[in-house]
Amino acid sequence: MDTEVSYHGYLRLGELLSLQHPLSETHDTEHTVLSEHFFIICHQTCELWLKQILADLSAVEEAFSTMRPAELERAVDLLYRVGDLLRMLHEQLVALERLPLEDFADFRRHLGSASGAQSSQFRELDRIIGNASRSGTLYPAFARGVERTGGTMAKIVEAGVAAGTEHRIVEALLHLGNGYLRWKVGHVGLTSRVLGETPGTGGSSGVTYLLDRATLPFTELRLLRGEVHRRVATAEGAAADGRDSRTE
Ligand code: HEM
Repeated sequence: MDTEVSYHGYLRLGELLSLQHPLSETHDTEHTVLSEHFFIICHQTCELWLKQILADLSAVEEAFSTMRPAELERAVDLLYRVGDLLRMLHEQLVALERLPLEDFADFRRHLGSASGAQSSQFRELDRIIGNASRSGTLYPAFARGVERTGGTMAKIVEAGVAAGTEHRIVEALLHLGNGYLRWKVGHVGLTSRVLGETPGTGGSSGVTYLLDRATLPFTELRLLRGEVHRRVATAEGAAADGRDSRTE
């Protein structure tokens, strides 16, 4: 006989809700402990959502390896979902700006050299998405899939909506890329608010280091879009000039 599934048991809430252990607990005031609890929850939930984001992106890369139409349609939804989750993570950073400065300065001494820079899930996300100077794995996986089906990225971008699912993937990639940048910029904002010009626990210069790393991914795609924009604008300009000279 099946044992009854309960909300608490199914979600393993006993384990999940016992994983927050502020290091300030034995040293500091109650409000510092409460603030560190908030800080831990923000990081833990970020890591949980990153787990989902990486699973979703893995399914997307799988779809790019087969290029089956139904899987590609699903990939569009997944890419938008990842973009939405990144937006949520950005909102979470905005909430973290409510971390009282003096409490953070107080419990930070317990963190040693622990830093978000050591997040292996985040490094994996960066490897997949890439940045302005380094292509990740996601875009090339799509471009290779397109080539295997006889197309090119240039033709898809050029065709726009007429390229159907492939066009929707391009749009979804850009949605995700912008969401990723938004998170990075939000992280810089948060950091500058609570650290000012002081260095990070991971040993970086802090704000300046993070600002340098906040760049847009999918450079190849943006360049192709720029070419189409230039061509359409030039053609429209020439057509308008033609109309003007005929009416003069
Ligand atoms: C008060 C809150 C926070 C502060 C002051 C802060 C500060 C910093 C600083 C200064 C760095 C640069 C590396 C270093 O020297 O430590 C960094 C890196 C990083 N942090 Fe945060 N952070 C905060 C919250 C978060 C949250 C909630 C997350 C989400 C998990 C996060 C994820 C990361 C990641 C992934 C990096 C590496 C970024 C990269 O290499 O581009 N941080 N953080």
